[in-house]
Amino acid sequence: MMGKKVILDVDTGVDDALGILLAVRSGAFEVLAITTVNGNVSMRQATDNTCKLLQLLEAEEAIPVYQGADRPLMRESYFEHRVHGKDGIGGALADMPLHKAASDGFAADVIIEQAKRYPGEVTLIMTAPLTNLALALRTAPELTQLVKEVIVMGGVVGSYGNVTPTAEYNIYVDPEAAKIVFHAGFPSLTLVGLDVTRKALLTKERMDTLGDTPIGRYVRESTADYMQRYYERNGVYACVLHDLLAVGVAIRSDIVTTKHYYVDVETRSELCDGQTVCDFQNRLSKQPNIRVCTDVDTDAFLDLFVRTLQT
Ligand code: RIB
Ligand code: CA
Repeated sequence: MMGKKVILDVDTGVDDALGILLAVRSGAFEVLAITTVNGNVSMRQATDNTCKLLQLLEAEEAIPVYQGADRPLMRESYFEHRVHGKDGIGGALADMPLHKAASDGFAADVIIEQAKRYPGEVTLIMTAPLTNLALALRTAPELTQLVKEVIVMGGVVGSYGNVTPTAEYNIYVDPEAAKIVFHAGFPSLTLVGLDVTRKALLTKERMDTLGDTPIGRYVRESTADYMQRYYERNGVYACVLHDLLAVGVAIRSDIVTTKHYYVDVETRSELCDGQTVCDFQNRLSKQPNIRVCTDVDTDAFLDLFVRTLQT
């Protein structure tokens, strides 16, 4: 029995990579494709990182990778090498020769093709700026009625941002794309924001239980600098698993608590550009458009991650 049909859209950075590991090793999914986009690193670097990860997972033949947008819809790129390292995955796999190449096809077109091929069955797991999905919606607005659900790692509604005081990175990089996606009319769009991902902290102790395996070594090597920087900023030696939680939600939706709200994106503010604004008290009298994650069962999620990678 094949699992849930999914497409992962990634800007393979450290946490996107952990999400790919979980998605492939969980056995919960039939990964139809992984699409790459400009974000933490260039789209080409994200593509190379993704292909190397599939080599590490011995899934390079099974899962195609398609390249997507190499810049946001309207803005300049905003790379995050400070957080993810020069290559985007903390220098891990640097010695691995790259054999796998991206398949022919543009990410936005592949998303449309797969949604039309499997109407009502495909889950889109978006762990990067939403440029590819916005482009797909421009070409095929009917996509909203063709996909099963969209799970987005992005935004923050009840706390501070991680790029500016109000904006989370994935939304900040391409707020116009996020606005298109948020208002397209998807019946099931779940926002996995910093409000919950910041609770999904992987400690060194838990990480060490992954054992001395190629995957365990990769996780420790790719997150070493990422954890150090988190320690310097927050005083806790841990790894924030933003994207990994979005994949976890696609595996087990019960690990988060969600509430349906109207959410919009600021795109014209000097101070608050990229802010995800949640209308908690329905002051705008608009139809709720997003299932906002308001809480997470951290232990259940971390157990899922560690148990999956230990197998
Ligand atoms: O804010 C966290 C998000 O931005 C994650 O997807 C991380 O990979 C970066 O893209
Ligand atoms: Ca990401």
